[in-house]
Amino acid sequence: MSESTPGGPERRARELRRALRRHSYLYYVRNRPEVSDERFDELFRELKALEESHPELVTPDSPTQRVGGAPLDAFETIEHTAPMLSLDSSADVEPLQRFDERMRKALGEDIGYVVEPKLDGASIELVYESGRLSRAVTRGDGIRGEGVTENIRTIHSVPLRLRAADRDVPPLLALRAEVIMRVGDFEALNARLLDSDRTPFANPRNAAAGSLRQLDPRITAARPLDIYVYDILAIDGRPPSTQRATLEALREWGLPVNERCRPAADVGETLAFQAEVEEARDDLEYEIDGIVIKLDDIAARDEVGETSHHPRWAFALKFPPRKEITRLLHIFPSVGRTGVVTPIAFMRPVELGGVTVSRANLHNREEVARKDIREGDRVRVQRAGDVIPQVLERLEEPGRARAEPWVMPAECPSCGTVLEPRGPYTFCPNLFACPAQLAGRIQHLGSRHALDIEGLGEETANLLVRKGVIGHVPELFGLDVVTLMELEGFAEKSATNLVRAIAGARTTELARFIYGLGIPEVGVTVARELASHFLSFEAFRAADEETLQQVDGMGPRMAEQITAFLGRPEVSAVVDELRSRVEPVPPPRAGDTLAGLRIVLTGGLESMSRSEAGKKLEALGAKVTSSVSRQTSYVVAGENPGRKLGRAQTLGVEILEEAGLLELLSGGPGALPTPGELPASERAGVASEPALPASEPAGSASETDGP
Ligand code: IVH
Repeated sequence: MSESTPGGPERRARELRRALRRHSYLYYVRNRPEVSDERFDELFRELKALEESHPELVTPDSPTQRVGGAPLDAFETIEHTAPMLSLDSSADVEPLQRFDERMRKALGEDIGYVVEPKLDGASIELVYESGRLSRAVTRGDGIRGEGVTENIRTIHSVPLRLRAADRDVPPLLALRAEVIMRVGDFEALNARLLDSDRTPFANPRNAAAGSLRQLDPRITAARPLDIYVYDILAIDGRPPSTQRATLEALREWGLPVNERCRPAADVGETLAFQAEVEEARDDLEYEIDGIVIKLDDIAARDEVGETSHHPRWAFALKFPPRKEITRLLHIFPSVGRTGVVTPIAFMRPVELGGVTVSRANLHNREEVARKDIREGDRVRVQRAGDVIPQVLERLEEPGRARAEPWVMPAECPSCGTVLEPRGPYTFCPNLFACPAQLAGRIQHLGSRHALDIEGLGEETANLLVRKGVIGHVPELFGLDVVTLMELEGFAEKSATNLVRAIAGARTTELARFIYGLGIPEVGVTVARELASHFLSFEAFRAADEETLQQVDGMGPRMAEQITAFLGRPEVSAVVDELRSRVEPVPPPRAGDTLAGLRIVLTGGLESMSRSEAGKKLEALGAKVTSSVSRQTSYVVAGENPGRKLGRAQTLGVEILEEAGLLELLSGGPGALPTPGELPASERAGVASEPALPASEPAGSASETDGP
């Protein structure tokens, strides 16, 4: 068949699109294809050819348009139609029982639930307008996320257009879904990445999330992603009245819904479901990390409401971590950035829920002794979520000869210094000269929440220390392109970029500088508290234990650790040197509504003198300067402005008249950005310095491990 079909190419294109949509749906969503792959390809090629010869026939939701245009420069931040909350969860049954009791107390005995597998993927919002997929946004912080529409379009099971055959399509429909990667696909992808010398993903969830965050949709298109939809976030029109009806509606709109979701009357049926799913877990093609129980009745959900973190009408029962048995080959002491020497177990690689595990943390020498773990033992290992696997216990092997008990070496494996026991832990006291610690400290100083020096990762830090390029942390700031280019893996471009990134870090937010020093107990949050309390590095450094304890959340132990660390002569020397190379910028004070703005005044004002205006601006935290540069936020031009006005025009700096100035001073309306809306670079008066994240994710490593 071709263009000679009655009705012409337009009609044929419509037929082909309809047929391809249907076959895609049957294949990708229902898993029940009706035509062979060859036939599908034939139809696809015909449509493609037709669209090529008649470009006016291409529609945005045509099956040929899944992989769209050019790569993006960056993702757009988009606010969700409704907040994407988290889930209340536990691995124990008791909190689930209490959840059920709360529901019954609030709503009476006549309630029902729906239970669903908890998919371990990347959470996403899909928005359909008039049945067309209009945007897809990652969960982000729950309020806003990144627009990854082009990438989501490449997932074949995501309909670009909702089916309207069985159910009317609402004008607006915002959905919540989980993007997953099947375990087999994940392994194949990792094998491919390894083949081309790239870093594999740690687990299918990271692979799914990482694939969604590709700026080039063609890369995402080559990643085998899939999706399950499970919730309506917002709907224009009458919402289904129950979760069961919701899932049914989603199915009718042609969306993939997990086939295991089902009603449950009570905790008993929920636990039965959990047992069933857990039993099936290893045979499932995708990763799940628990089950979710949800009130079926949507009106009842509104009655119980939500907290800012999670809805009160749902609860996740998490699976206990996966365990596996393998053989421990070797125990190796590894020196961390803080000088702690940690015994690491090297094991025969073993699969733990989609991930191959070959190393585990044995924590400290007492732990090794307590568990009596020796080289050559058979051990049970466990992996909980993303946490580094643990060796739980050794298994008895009667009749098998065992190695001698493992002992911590007396000297540091990295620098040979005599190690010091502290409680169950062992430390290398050679804080700044031990190569392992030095590399760790350099890496930490350059890390994302510290000076954020791009290109200074673990590998580079190790290389710089191993090759003797850096023997002392502050020497980082003396690196030059020529020296770097002599190192393997550095070309002119990467060397130049690193040197530039280091130069860019010479001015930084105070909190980042404090965090970057790797002071024991001082994670991102504490560093931020310290910065906003002391406002200057010198004030912080001079603080004694008592003064430190006035800082929010600071206890005596923390205060003592901080002063003890900063008081050490070798620390002091490094800090002095770093301080002479880096300028930490204090955070804006409360009331500094104009903090971060650089303003130039030119010409005469009517309502006040220029110097008066300058003082008022400064009182609100603005910086008033005399010359116009690209860093200038506004030039205020009064009567007979000087040459500064012309310069502002040339540089494209925004120009305000007196009325604009008065608005600034009153913090009044108008379209002027408040400092909070300015890029962090402008707030801190620093070029291209990203702000510290608003809050550190709970349990993040940077908060708990010391220097
Ligand atoms: S319901 C706020 N149902 O689990 C209520 N969530 O750990 C909406 N998740 O971020 C969530 N499978 O992305 C729900 N069947 C399911 C789920 C599910 C996976 C994810 C979800 C959430 C995370 C919380």
